[in-house]
Amino acid sequence: MVIASNLKTNLTREKTISYLMDVENFLDEIKSNQDVYVFPAQSSLNPHHGKVTQGAQNAYATKNGAFTGEIGLEQLEEFDVKTILIGHSERRHILGETQEAIAQKFNFYKTQGFKIVYCVGEPLEVREEGEDVMMKYLELQYEGIDLDYENLIIAYEPVWAIGTGKTPTLEDISKIHLKLKEKSSAPLLYGGSVKVDTALDILKCDGVDGVLVGSGALKVENFCKMIQFA
Ligand code: G3P
Repeated sequence: MVIASNLKTNLTREKTISYLMDVENFLDEIKSNQDVYVFPAQSSLNPHHGKVTQGAQNAYATKNGAFTGEIGLEQLEEFDVKTILIGHSERRHILGETQEAIAQKFNFYKTQGFKIVYCVGEPLEVREEGEDVMMKYLELQYEGIDLDYENLIIAYEPVWAIGTGKTPTLEDISKIHLKLKEKSSAPLLYGGSVKVDTALDILKCDGVDGVLVGSGALKVENFCKMIQFA
């Protein structure tokens, strides 16, 4: 099981370092070798080394260069970061990243040997059009992506469940995860309003290999409880 927290634009570098140390201490305390990932805000990346894998929420598809406001491979290498989230719905629907740009980023970081957590998910209006339309939408989000890449983790995050407190039913999570598993054997996480009181049941769903948690993991004690469920 993979337990991952996406801190988004939350926690300063100082608070992130404290968060990471708390998780490390917890893993030592329970003598766990659980796969745990933390994705800090870009400016809160830090030289963390330990059982917890620190990943980037985003980076530009370049080693360095003239890309104002972005960070690239060099900045990630400074902190030994070799894991990256790509295709998160907030980058698609808020920041306007196209599938073409996402695929280019995927292929760049794939060539660098990064562990890639690749995010897909449908907006509510697509879901409301039924399963066939929804699956076709999700397949479009795989365009240009090597689903056989050995360093790939996929995260299914229905856009309408992110930050809303709503989640699909456990039956629907299993159903969609099993359908997505037909496309790729990569580990498949669920994300979208995972909370301490729902994480255990979600982790038990068919086809779920872990969770990617946003607001429900901002309090490190809640994130540690979810790690214990795995
Ligand atoms: O990447 C995980 C995130 O998008 C889920 O956010 O706050 O609904 O858990 P949240």
